[in-house]
Amino acid sequence: MTKNDLVKAIEKLKKERRAILLAHNYQNPDVQDVADFRGDSLELSRIAAKTDASVIVFCGVHFMAETAAILNPDKIVLLPRKDAGCPMADMITADDLQRVKEEYPGVPIITYVNSTADVKALSTICCTSANVVKIVRSFQDHPRVYLTPDKNLAQYAAKHVNNEVLYWDGFCPIHDSLSVHEVIAKKKQFPEALFIAHPECRPEVLDVADHIFSTSGMLRFVKEAGNREFIIGTEVGIIYPMQRENPDKIFYPASESMICSNMKKISLMDVFNALETLEPRVVVSENIRTKALAAITRMLEVS
Ligand code: 13P
Ligand code: SF4
Repeated sequence: MTKNDLVKAIEKLKKERRAILLAHNYQNPDVQDVADFRGDSLELSRIAAKTDASVIVFCGVHFMAETAAILNPDKIVLLPRKDAGCPMADMITADDLQRVKEEYPGVPIITYVNSTADVKALSTICCTSANVVKIVRSFQDHPRVYLTPDKNLAQYAAKHVNNEVLYWDGFCPIHDSLSVHEVIAKKKQFPEALFIAHPECRPEVLDVADHIFSTSGMLRFVKEAGNREFIIGTEVGIIYPMQRENPDKIFYPASESMICSNMKKISLMDVFNALETLEPRVVVSENIRTKALAAITRMLEVS
């Protein structure tokens, strides 16, 4: 099958199955092009919460499809590659978080959506990179909050709130690998460029950023900014939609090695197979789902 045939077959199956295809901003270009909606974690959760489609094909990583399944118990949620995981989400288990809760009784637990359903189920509320500051501020009556699993996101939030932010020691291996030396070298190489970074980057990297955004926040910013050149401090996949939407602007990856192999697993063929077989499905047990749903719903209400 040629690529064109594959795209046509996907479009046909999408109609037959009453399916929508959601793709994260880091997905392979082919997959982004065939998606009905592209976005960051918060936008895709909002779309998943509202859709009346019967099938959600989630092109992203496991925790994202799991969030869609938590929000839509009566729909079929497909993750075209079931091995597309997120190493940061696996850095804390439900048992770990239970111990944290025992150590800090009464302290609200704010869980980044990059986490498993079991961990969300033990949390007060969820957050994403787009709303973390707003979510922490919604607990202004609490002198301390606990953020998990990302230590970098927690330290970023701490700089913008009055509460003390305690945190788990997790991190995204891709964002955490970007060093401030690499950024400074890129800034020297491209002195006209603005450096924009994702809050999963290390604190010293964020300290030298001109702006800090979620992935969709970055896309909006580069479109509206008068500047022409940008150094992009996140997974390199985002440069594809940036360049497509802004053909006259120039985007330099802060590091060419910021590639999330999990985000690159899904191919057009995987999307086709998933729609045809309605597998692999992501299902969450009802007991965990209802508890995790409470934390996600609180987040959607606050943001
Ligand atoms: P965004 O919600 O900003 O798209 O981030 C998701 C993610 O996995 C970043 O690594
Ligand atoms: Fe997880 Fe990092 Fe990949 Fe995002 S880029 S999915 S946080 S490993």
